[in-house]
Amino acid sequence: MAKILGIGNTVLDIVLRVPHALHDDEELRASQRHVQVGGNVSNSLYVLNQLGHETAICTTLGGDAEAKQLMNGLKQRQIDTSLVQRFIKGRTPTSYITLNAENGHRAIVHFRDLPELSFDHFAKTEIENYDWLHFEGRNIDNLKGMLNIAKTFLTHQPISLEVEKPRDGIEALLPQANVIFFSHHYASAKGFENGETLLKTMQAQLPNSRLICTWGAQGAWLCEAGSSIEHVAAERVSPVVDTLGAGDTFNAAVIHHLINGESLRSAVQQASKLAAQKCLQHGLDNLMQGAHTLKPIANIKQLSNAKTLVVEAENLGKSVVLIKYEDGVKAYINNCPHQDVPLNEAYKIDVNPFEKTMKCSVHDAFFRIEDGVCIEGPCWDEALEAVEIRVEDNGDIYAV
Ligand code: FRU
Repeated sequence: MAKILGIGNTVLDIVLRVPHALHDDEELRASQRHVQVGGNVSNSLYVLNQLGHETAICTTLGGDAEAKQLMNGLKQRQIDTSLVQRFIKGRTPTSYITLNAENGHRAIVHFRDLPELSFDHFAKTEIENYDWLHFEGRNIDNLKGMLNIAKTFLTHQPISLEVEKPRDGIEALLPQANVIFFSHHYASAKGFENGETLLKTMQAQLPNSRLICTWGAQGAWLCEAGSSIEHVAAERVSPVVDTLGAGDTFNAAVIHHLINGESLRSAVQQASKLAAQKCLQHGLDNLMQGAHTLKPIANIKQLSNAKTLVVEAENLGKSVVLIKYEDGVKAYINNCPHQDVPLNEAYKIDVNPFEKTMKCSVHDAFFRIEDGVCIEGPCWDEALEAVEIRVEDNGDIYAV
């Protein structure tokens, strides 16, 4: 177990699960909404806690109601908040995130209004009490001084730096870090075609650092100080339901395995596995148990034309009706809007393949299979609640 200090932003993530990526002028209905603690460093620290370490965060928080929510969230995640710098002015940094149910990818709109961590605040921190310092590559003017202090006063504790975005002046800070995480985003913005070419250039300037560059489905490149560049393939997993925080999970896992004395290659391999595991679940809770990993609710082979299949979706805690429709599958919560009863309460749910409808067995309401709208019966014009599903190549169906 090590004591790890993370320095970076804490933000409020408002996550909306949507059926597909938004187009211009489109209106969409989210199937779920989650509000949670976010920010690269706070996410990484949460994962490090789950990997058995003690963590503390040096970050800023505002004075609004959302800041209280963040403070509680950090405490719940067992991240030490005694080094938080409070500001009265400025509102809580918020990320408005859509999570695409088709592929688990996220899009983020950032709202940032709060001052970033000041150098003076960081300078009061007893950094020598920690075994590892992990910095987010932002707030560059102040970060310069912070890294200087860390480099000057720490004798054996490693310093890691995440370089996620191309920010003016960030390159000057790189020699201060022992382990550097470059993102695909940074590398592409700097004109590199892959992680190898980026690391080649960086290695010439930073011969004493351990360097990593992640590149999504292309895997990750790495090099130990002064050694040749190696590649680790990406882990393939399905269904990917939530990529938010996968990079933060990766960084945490690399730090963890390096603390355990493993080689950088082995650390990156293990970290790729954990990051992939993260993509199989929503959020970061219980990552090590894989507790939120989805199980298929059915396989497409179990469905036949003109018949419905009623299954329990454990992750939704609800009964779901599945039915083939044209080339795909439609899924609805097994609940008739007429009297809030399961559609199959009295008998099976009959299907009329010619009219493309299915019928509630209780009071004979007919629903269009295409969109779940009642076109005849007591709840005319009301609709069944649709369930987002994903059908994988092997036919497994997931409620996502
Ligand atoms: C995920 C994340 C979110 C946050 C955003 C900040 O990596 O840290 O939690 O909203 O990125 O860029």
